[in-house]
Amino acid sequence: MLRPIVLYPDPRLKMKSKPVTEFNPGLMELAADMAETMRNAGGVGLAAIQIGEPIRMMVMDEHYDQEDKGESLAMFNPEVLEEEGSETTEEGCLSIPDVREEVERSFKVKVKYQDLEGKEHTSEYEGLLARCVLHEIDHMNGQLFIQKVPAVKRLFLKKQLDQLKKNFKETVPL
Ligand code: CO
Repeated sequence: MLRPIVLYPDPRLKMKSKPVTEFNPGLMELAADMAETMRNAGGVGLAAIQIGEPIRMMVMDEHYDQEDKGESLAMFNPEVLEEEGSETTEEGCLSIPDVREEVERSFKVKVKYQDLEGKEHTSEYEGLLARCVLHEIDHMNGQLFIQKVPAVKRLFLKKQLDQLKKNFKETVPL
């Protein structure tokens, strides 16, 4: 089921998400909804808070660049164990439509996470997928990528962000 994506500047995007401790079957439905919502919006990753669930969970398309993407990976309580290198490239966020800016992040990450059954895994990612994991973990900590944009560039962003704030006020139900 498609779920509405929480949009900037919704205050929920500043929330710190809670660890997942109970791995019940309801999470499977949540993971499926998040994967569907992410793909429908053309994203590679999505954090649970972006559909209003403040838990440390994300979905990611590991095979985003292949014709058969397969199933999206659901990651619970992801934690970065090691980071290596750096890369500055353009980044966007489904919660901040049409805003893309260059952000510096580690090129490679080693991450541990739990799967839908609570089983622990360790994986290594590079490039866009490493960026995606770091971006979604930031969401779990109430951080948005625009906060990582250098101040000089943020001035140019301000106009776009002000427009999003204006739209948000106009669409919030009373
Ligand atoms: Co995002």
